[in-house]
Amino acid sequence: MPESVFLAGDPDWWRNAVVYQVYPRSFADSNGDGLGDIRGVTSRVDYLANLGVDAVWLSPFYPSPLADGGYDVSDYRDVDPRLGTLDDVDRMIAACHEQGIRVFVDIVPNHSSDQHAWFRAALLSPPGSPERARYIFREGRGESGEIPPNNWASHFGPTGWTRTTNPDGTPGEWYLHLFAPEQPDFNWDNPEVVEDFQKTIRFWSDRGVDGFRIDVAHALTKDMSEPYPSYPTGASYELESIPSDGSHHLFDRDETIEIYRGWRQIFNSYDPPRVAVAEAGVPIDRLNRYASSETLGQSFNFALFNTPWSAQEYQSIIASSLSQATAHGSSSTWALSNHDVVRHATRFGLPEGTDLNQWLLTDGTKPELNRELGVGRARAVTMMLLALPGSTYLYQGEELGLFEVADLPAQALQDPIWERSEHVRKGRDGCRVPLAWKSDGSSFGFGSDCSHLPQPAWFGALSVASQDGVAGSTLEMYRDALRLRKSLNHSEHLAWVDSSRDVLHFSRADGWHNLTNFGSEAVAMPAGDVILSSSPLAGKELPANTTVWIRVRRQASAKDRVRLPSEDCSPRASK
Ligand code: GLC
Repeated sequence: MPESVFLAGDPDWWRNAVVYQVYPRSFADSNGDGLGDIRGVTSRVDYLANLGVDAVWLSPFYPSPLADGGYDVSDYRDVDPRLGTLDDVDRMIAACHEQGIRVFVDIVPNHSSDQHAWFRAALLSPPGSPERARYIFREGRGESGEIPPNNWASHFGPTGWTRTTNPDGTPGEWYLHLFAPEQPDFNWDNPEVVEDFQKTIRFWSDRGVDGFRIDVAHALTKDMSEPYPSYPTGASYELESIPSDGSHHLFDRDETIEIYRGWRQIFNSYDPPRVAVAEAGVPIDRLNRYASSETLGQSFNFALFNTPWSAQEYQSIIASSLSQATAHGSSSTWALSNHDVVRHATRFGLPEGTDLNQWLLTDGTKPELNRELGVGRARAVTMMLLALPGSTYLYQGEELGLFEVADLPAQALQDPIWERSEHVRKGRDGCRVPLAWKSDGSSFGFGSDCSHLPQPAWFGALSVASQDGVAGSTLEMYRDALRLRKSLNHSEHLAWVDSSRDVLHFSRADGWHNLTNFGSEAVAMPAGDVILSSSPLAGKELPANTTVWIRVRRQASAKDRVRLPSEDCSPRASK
């Protein structure tokens, strides 16, 4: 392991960090095999430093049969040989740390791959054996056990149970998988499972990893006692249907929170303490259970993925997220995209209420995408989020203004959702197409003659090379915004300012104001020095779909201000 891989410094660095998500197989391919890899990431650390991010989060790079893009892990403490070696990871961490960039890795604790040594051993062992007790096996119902133990669904559809075949060829028990059949759920009541994940967290912490993103953090422990409740469709797993008293048999159980208390002790045994962020699909008022300083510390806030285009709607979500985080000593997270959702430059360019799945099934032709509007709004909202207290999670390629690749041909699709939904849901491949680094040439500089998902011709014009150094490009706007926002980080103070109905206006420390125009008409701006704008300004007016940062010459007077409970957004806020 290279020496001095640890970054010292402020233990609270994560509170206002910009974290950049790398989807390793689609970021940069160093050996020309069509798959992005760890050395590819290392080769782009300068790019990340130049962008100005504080940390990178890598989606899983562990050995995996790729039944679900690497979220089916067959060994939690190794690297997929197609992506590199543990030495490559050590070098990548060291290269990031040299540039002051922290590293998060992804922990996938709800399920493993069916190729994990434990699951293979379980299949070769009899019912009731210790090998089977690491997963959730049950007898089927019906005369010969031919009916699944209950009607629980898989998130990827249809059933959440798959029947095993005994070594002698006869049908056997069933096992639970909340995702694909290749992703059997662990039995978290088994102390062996608990200990093994603690070992994994220590393993990566010892290698210098600074933080962890916890996949499906609200699942893990389950109440498997009978009678089973009826959760007939995937809809029973939607946020709204998860009761807030912890009584769901599969999600958000108190025992799961206890697991994270154990992890917190491990995080805090390091100097600086390791950090974590939960991907917890629970109602907003339950997120703090995962985001407390005694558990994972921070939790993703996905509310902005579906917010209607309105200043009031955004303000209400921002205010409630800030007050929730403040009340529990955490810091808010902001994100517009990740590897699971249609890219936000596309969402913003489609008519309000468009069914994104239906749109993907038309290969992105109906309704027509308004690219100019989409990227304009995407830039405006991104700048607004970057001016807020809290940390922002960026997804690779959004700094290029990338759109969803909606017309991937059926034979190219890899997401298990496509097959398991019987071609009713196209899935998530359209946001996972490899990045374009050059404006032309094979795979636009991704690194091979072909890429594992085909890139469209329009990627060239949105490549890094096409935008690097080009004033007004989306890439340069991100670079400017990330550099400028650092001056805000010494305070988590925010004050809302009363403005015209369509404008979301708040101020931060040192007279820094953010105005975002959600309306369709230009509006007057307060007098001040413009720091940055998301699109060109026309005189003293703020155009529609635009954000501006201004240093206002006089502080807004008390009567201009609307005070909300979240006005003082941090226990540490400086006034
Ligand atoms: C998370 C991941 C997603 C994956 C699922 C199952 O939601 O973000 O990509 O398919 O978990 O691991």
